[in-house]
Amino acid sequence: MQLFTESPIQEIDQYLARLEVLLGQAVASDDPRLSEVAAHLIKAGGKRIRPTLTITSARAAGIEVDDRLLMAAVAVELVHLASLYHDDVMDEATTRRNVPSVNSRWGNLVAIVAGDFLLARAAAIAADLGQDVAKLLATTLAHLCEGQILEVNATFDSSRSVASYNEAIAGKTASLMATACRIGALSAGVASEQLDKLERIGFLFGMVYQIRDDVLDIIGTEEELGKLPGQDLIEGVYTLPTIIAIQSQGSNSEIALRLNEVAKNENDLTIAKKLIVGSGSIEESIRIAQEYCDEASRIAQEFGNAIGDYLGSLANSLLSTVSDIADERVRSA
Ligand code: IPE
Ligand code: IPE
Ligand code: MG
Ligand code: MG
Repeated sequence: MQLFTESPIQEIDQYLARLEVLLGQAVASDDPRLSEVAAHLIKAGGKRIRPTLTITSARAAGIEVDDRLLMAAVAVELVHLASLYHDDVMDEATTRRNVPSVNSRWGNLVAIVAGDFLLARAAAIAADLGQDVAKLLATTLAHLCEGQILEVNATFDSSRSVASYNEAIAGKTASLMATACRIGALSAGVASEQLDKLERIGFLFGMVYQIRDDVLDIIGTEEELGKLPGQDLIEGVYTLPTIIAIQSQGSNSEIALRLNEVAKNENDLTIAKKLIVGSGSIEESIRIAQEYCDEASRIAQEFGNAIGDYLGSLANSLLSTVSDIADERVRSA
């Protein structure tokens, strides 16, 4: 599924090719086993959304792309990669980027140590880029961990609120997207007003990204999602559409009761998904995400250039892919 329309940055493919080289060098270790494990998911692919945000944000702010900027993008991608290594341990995931996850191939212990190694390399790069960059990345990592813990604390909680969900996804996903947009311009000394705008656009993009992922968990196919759908429900992670559905039907409703059984019974998963879709909460979740998209476009327009407009349109292109799927499946449900 194509996420974005073509970038107005003509050299984007060249920048991303150079980024791959720098990323590969950043995870090399004297220990051949650690090198192999650390490079595993990089070789498997991934969309490189966060580096793309760093490059696009910098260009919107009028900065030229050089190795220093690309190293800021490498640091962000390494934090993201490490979070995937650790997340797959937490979620007991078996595949990632269409290959066996690190935990399933080498075990939890190796996955945790390799994730720590990636974080260490990100920290060293950030320190080279200056104190402000190092502090930003460290603060972001703390937010990411807080978001992950909030999510763990709320599993199987049928009274989970939208506020609890928002706080968790702001930490686990949007904070790093926000930093991806800020970090390159920060390392280039851009004025703080511009930095705050870039950060806000990245944050809003991240909120939309996670809502989209969470909606697809309920209405998407394995092919669209790149992973098995329904995993959030099975793990007891009640995301925006599920929370809104439970709230509209009540905590003793059939939805709430079925959700408790989902992990044990495939049939209950199918029914729970149908009940969520039938409650209208998919449309409501998309409506909420649309508000984030509108704010992102408004702020981005203030940059007054085509790359800024493109940056502001990314959240919208993300959401339109999921709206199209919802139009097709929710209406026919
Ligand atoms: C996956 O992020 C984790 C979420 C925030 C949902 P991506 O979808 O950016 O993962 P890759 O890097 O393309 O594999
Ligand atoms: C991904 O979260 C990890 C982080 C955002 C830190 P999820 O568990 O929701 O995403 P997937 O489904 O594993 O990609
Ligand atoms: Mg996961
Ligand atoms: Mg997770």
